[in-house]
Parts: sequence; C-alpha cells; structure tokens
Amino acid sequence: MGINFRKETFRDDFTFRNSPENIRRFPFPYHEDAYMYSVNIEPHVPGPKNSVFEHLVDVDEHYVSEMQDRAMVLAEDPLRCQSLPHMTLAGWDLLELLMTEKAASYPEHFSLTREGDRWHWINRPLGIDDTFTFGDVSTLPYGPMEYITRQSQGDFAILDQRDNNLWMDAGMITTQADWSLDFDIGMNFFEWHAPVPLAHEMGVFTRALKFLTNIQQGKPARRLNWTMTINPRLDTSPENFHKWGSDRLTVTPENVGEKVHLRVELQSFWRLPRSNALVFPIRCYLLKMDELVTVPKWARRFHRVLRDLPVELAEYKGLTRYRQTTVEWLSKYDDGAPTSPGF
Ligand code: HEM
Repeated sequence: MGINFRKETFRDDFTFRNSPENIRRFPFPYHEDAYMYSVNIEPHVPGPKNSVFEHLVDVDEHYVSEMQDRAMVLAEDPLRCQSLPHMTLAGWDLLELLMTEKAASYPEHFSLTREGDRWHWINRPLGIDDTFTFGDVSTLPYGPMEYITRQSQGDFAILDQRDNNLWMDAGMITTQADWSLDFDIGMNFFEWHAPVPLAHEMGVFTRALKFLTNIQQGKPARRLNWTMTINPRLDTSPENFHKWGSDRLTVTPENVGEKVHLRVELQSFWRLPRSNALVFPIRCYLLKMDELVTVPKWARRFHRVLRDLPVELAEYKGLTRYRQTTVEWLSKYDDGAPTSPGF
C-alpha cells in the first residue's frame, strides 16, 4: 500500500500534523532520562518495519508538502542551495544514490530505468517524468544535486575530503536548526562546529572526524540529534530569524501542546563512489507536545531530559525562553515512575 501524502503547511497557518501511525514511528532520541553530547554513531542498516529505519532513505506522509515548502524557500533565497565547481561529480553520485534507494524501497511511487547513460526517472507523488543523460548537466533542469534534493526530504551537506578533514563545499539546506550554508560554505569540520558548547572539550569532534573520514562505500552510518521549535516551521534559518525568532516569546501554559515541537534529526553519513565525497543527509522529524504525550513513556522521559538539560545546551539550542513553561506543562504527565533504559 502506498503512502497517503498529507496536504499541509509549515508556515503561516501551520496546518502540519502527524497521523497516529506517524507518531508511532517518530524517532524518539533518548535512551535514558538525561541527555549529554556523545559520539553516538552506529551503522545505518535497515531497521524494523514501520520504523523510520525500515528503509535507508525514509519517505513519509509529509513528503509532498515538505518539497513544496523547499521550493518556496528557494524561490525567495537561491543561496540555500550551493555547489562549488569541483563538487558536480559528487552531485551525480548523490543523484544516483537517492534515485536507486527510493526506487528500490518505494516502487509504487518512484521508478528508475537505466540504459547505459540514458536514465528514465519517474517520481509519481511530484508528477515528474524525466529522461536524461547521466553525467550531462545540460539534460537536467537543475544541477544534479539541486535536481534530486528538490525531490528528497531533509537537508543535504556534501563534504569534500582532503588534508584529513571534511570541507562543506556543497549543500541543499532549507530546513536547518539555525545555521547557514551560505555562512559555512568552504569551512572545515572544526570551523563549522565552532559554535557548539562543551563538545570540543569532550573530544567529541576529534573522534567523530576520525570516524567519518574512514567511512567506506556501502557502509553508511547514522546518529540522532535533536532540538525544539516553536510552531512546525521547517525553515528556522539565521537568514529568516526575523520571521521566527520572536515565536519563542509566544509560548503560554495554554498553548504548549500545540506550539512547542520536538525536532529530531536523523543524520546519516555515506561515502560516494566516484567523487570520494561524503554526503550528510539531515532528515528532520517534528512532533507536537500534544502528540508526544500520547506515548506515556516518552512524556515521562522528555519531562526529565528537558528539566535537567545542562544550561549550556539549553542556551545553544535556543530553548531558554520557553523551557520552564514546557517543563511545567510536561510535569503533569510524569508520575515519577522509573523508566526502562534503552527504549
Ligand atoms: C551541530 C554539521 C557531523 C555533533 C552542527 C551544526 C552544523 C553541523 C552545521 C550547527 C553548528 C552551528 O551552531 O552553527 C555537521 C556536518 C556533519 C556533522 C555537515 C557531517 C560531516 C557531526 C558528528 C557529530 C556532530 C559526526 C558527533 C558525533 C554535533 C553536535 C552539534 C552539531 C553535538 C550541536 C547540536 C545541538 O546541540 O543541537 N553540526 N555535523 N556533528 N554537530 Fe555536527
């Protein structure tokens, strides 16, 4: 059975919602009642049916509406998509990866037929049916990275690997948690991570970089990261801070359930075959507090994580203005019972 794509918005009237089935597959990111940064990387292998890990590239009910939101962001600000000249080959690598994964995992929605370099791609949810020559940019309406990431949920950073470091030399970034591709383009792993508190001192980034530069083709890895967002807004960029920054002052005990969202990023890391670049898809999942508390063990645990979060992390993630109101609201759902580790 195919996916039932929702018609919804991530701006203005904010009609985004999760169906009950989608709530159940939300990647709840905490393994215990407290949270601190760590090198939480594991192999990106297929997981249980009906989970976000079932397929290595996940497509869900928000796909069509998220792609419409991306098109609106790009129409206003084309610099959200950039690729330095030496990254075009990596763009073709990414196009191949996403087309083959989608066609294999969701044959009712996507199909790819290859005859030598002549490729025929059908994307039924978005009404796309294109034939092009792999490697020939003039046969596509956009560059290869832009073409395929306009059809793929989540942000994508493509990293060139040289001098034992990773360089952010291309990306499609329209759903980010307050960082800017236009600012970070051309930076290396330590430079773009400079604003993150505590993790540098803990050695997280030195170890993470070592791991990433050794990733091999066909053996992707993944990790979860999280933050919070007021209203189900995908585009929380520094470029548009004037549109969403003040939303953080609007949270009251009456509207926490509807306005406050947990925002989880499923980040994966893949070696690309021809360019030897690394691609970093950042897939964003949103969950309203009203939706989160429908799962009692999540409500209990999230109350404790948010209440006890180190102040440096709360400040960096931008939660300070509404953290207390949200913790008090969540406390109604925490009976103090012990939780099991690891769920
Ligand atoms: C934050 C990119 C891999 C840990 C960030 C930020 C960017 C970023 C742009 C926001 C920095 C800012 O405030 O401006 C990337 C890219 C990666 C990558 C492109 C892949 C090559 C990793 C890995 C780890 C990691 C492997 C750790 C194991 C973190 C942490 C934060 C962060 C802890 C702060 C997040 C928060 O508190 O919400 N990353 N990252 N990153 N990154 Fe990475």
